[in-house]
Amino acid sequence: MLVSTKQLLLDAQKGKYAVPAFNVHNMETIQTVVEAAAELRSPIIVAATPGTMKYAGPEFFIKIVEVCSNKYDIPIAMHLDHHESFDDIAHAIQLGSKSAMIDASHYDLEENIRRVKEVVDYAHRYDVTVEGELGVLGGQEDDLIRDAKDSKYTNPAQAKEYVEKTGIDSLAVAIGTAHGMYKEEPKLDFDRLAEIRAVVDIPLVLHGASGLPAEQVKKAIELGITKVNIATELKMPFAAKLREVLNANPEESDPRKYFGPAKEVMKKVAMEKILMCGSNGKA
Ligand code: 13P
Ligand code: ZN
Ligand code: NA
Repeated sequence: MLVSTKQLLLDAQKGKYAVPAFNVHNMETIQTVVEAAAELRSPIIVAATPGTMKYAGPEFFIKIVEVCSNKYDIPIAMHLDHHESFDDIAHAIQLGSKSAMIDASHYDLEENIRRVKEVVDYAHRYDVTVEGELGVLGGQEDDLIRDAKDSKYTNPAQAKEYVEKTGIDSLAVAIGTAHGMYKEEPKLDFDRLAEIRAVVDIPLVLHGASGLPAEQVKKAIELGITKVNIATELKMPFAAKLREVLNANPEESDPRKYFGPAKEVMKKVAMEKILMCGSNGKA
């Protein structure tokens, strides 16, 4: 049975570890991350963006994750990542999804609150947990001056108000991470994270974890991050292996021969990320 992220993240908060949220796109990659989690006895969040849902078809994607949740005795959540449309979220909830992010972070605070609260009110009727985001991710600039940081990064006082007014179950914070890999090693604003943690008591979420040194992720977990989102670092080895196998065997047409090795290398990365999150042995 698919679970919501409520208990998963509260347990992680108590146990001072994080649950990995892996962005994947099809049956092969869903199976890969779930197998990694099952082997390490880790709870896992399988995440899909609207683009992935459009590619795979929400009924297919959600059903495959649900099948995994019935096959393995670890907690598995099916999470709607960076969704922006109320209708898409409502549709996926009706299909069985129990966890959703409504991303209205590019709107001003008032509109962000309005859009998120609308989803929270609907989702909570179905025991579905909701993640909101305050602050702007990406465009990591090392020389960002304090004022610029204040306008882009999550403001702790605003975060408190945002959580209270929306009723969200978890909060994605902007503390210097970006989606994709980094040109230079990012410097996360740990002081800001600690300030947010001091005034907000719900689980906190770190987006853009690909490319972050493990020590930085671990420090963020110590300071209250309970969900770590990973997309790019899973895709890259899968694609690289696929390319390698197909280039080395231009005549090969059997999907089992090229997806198999690609799954293997992705699984290794997923296992490393689970160990980084400290969620192994928690299921
Ligand atoms: P990365 O691609 O940097 O891992 O970001 C993942 C993410 O935040 C998904 O929501
Ligand atoms: Zn993200
Ligand atoms: Na990243």
